[in-house]
Amino acid sequence: MFRVGLVGLGYWGPNLARVLANNERCDFSACCDLDPRKLSKITRQYPSLKGYRDYDELLKSDIDAVFIATNIGTHYELAKHALMRGKHVFVEKPLADSSSKAAELTKIGHFARRTLMTGHTFIYSPPVVKVKELIDSGSLGDLRYISFSRVNLGLYQKDVDVIWDLAVHDLSILLYWLGESPIQAWSFGRACIDTKRDVAFLWFRFPSGVIASCEVSWLAPQKMRRTCIIGSDKMVVYDDLDPGEKVKLFERGVNLAAPSDFGEFQLTYRMGDVISPNLANVEPLAVEIDHFLKCIETGEAPVTNGEFGTDVVRAIEIAIEGAQAESLAVVNAA
Ligand SMILES: NC(=O)c1ccc[n+]([C@@H]2O[C@H](COP(=O)([O-])OP(=O)(O)OC[C@H]3O[C@@H](n4cnc5c(N)ncnc54)[C@H](O)[C@@H]3O)[C@@H](O)[C@H]2O)c1
Repeated sequence: MFRVGLVGLGYWGPNLARVLANNERCDFSACCDLDPRKLSKITRQYPSLKGYRDYDELLKSDIDAVFIATNIGTHYELAKHALMRGKHVFVEKPLADSSSKAAELTKIGHFARRTLMTGHTFIYSPPVVKVKELIDSGSLGDLRYISFSRVNLGLYQKDVDVIWDLAVHDLSILLYWLGESPIQAWSFGRACIDTKRDVAFLWFRFPSGVIASCEVSWLAPQKMRRTCIIGSDKMVVYDDLDPGEKVKLFERGVNLAAPSDFGEFQLTYRMGDVISPNLANVEPLAVEIDHFLKCIETGEAPVTNGEFGTDVVRAIEIAIEGAQAESLAVVNAA
């Protein structure tokens, strides 16, 4: 059984701790945080854990793998040290704060022959997997466009803007569904309250012709986690906040009939059934962590491996900076 440690016990880390404590593939034996209060809170909750304030001491211990749930700017250094010490590494999303750092971590992981995985939790959630199945099976027909809305009031982050906090989720889902990376990207953002963008709109175009938009905001009156996937035959609405029917498949569309004479083109609207597929009732975070541990056991590559994590970061970068030559333009209004 693998011995695992966890670094970063802020907002998200305790969720990883809860799932790790319940996973039978691993022995969750150590945790680490710079903040002694956060450390003692977790060690009180899980008394068998050994607590460290110094990350190097955690790495010197006998753990085989480390879970990194610290602030994004620290991911690269912490993951690199762990891989170089021969640990398997799970890094919370995004893998790093630049694609060059993410690519370097991926390379080090291969060189060290250690499993490196990015914590893109949504990729392990039943609704996202169900939509992938619908796309891959051709049920939707040719994909036309995808639009994401991920907005709420807060949580404002200290170290990153709303794109690096929220759009990372949408990009991971988008790249997973489409299996391709964008060739054009564009974004507008605005810092309304403080100095970091708290609202942003991102647009992408993919080699297949699919276009996509992401609306992300910490400054919205209501929480929304809604995605529309539009195909030539069917359409899907994925609402992650819907308690019972997160995925709805609409047998709807528009047909354009060629004119039989010199008259006008005829549009006909298809208004068929709405189907809500049955989804497994599992916790995505538990599936994700189990996948990582299983990949260590078998040596297979995780679905959200280093390459996948790097592609997500690169897509974010081209939307922000227009870093790719094909990018149309980038305007970051502050
Ligand atoms: N997968 C998801 O759905 C999801 C959800 C929320 C957050 N996250 C990710 O989790 C990560 C952490 O986010 P958060 O909101 O919990 O941040 P946070 O600021 O609340 O917590 C970070 C913790 O890391 C500790 N830390 C930082 N550097 C350290 C170091 N060198 N050694 C030891 N401890 C250190 C800090 O003291 C703090 O307690 C981010 O990458 C974020 O994107 C993922």
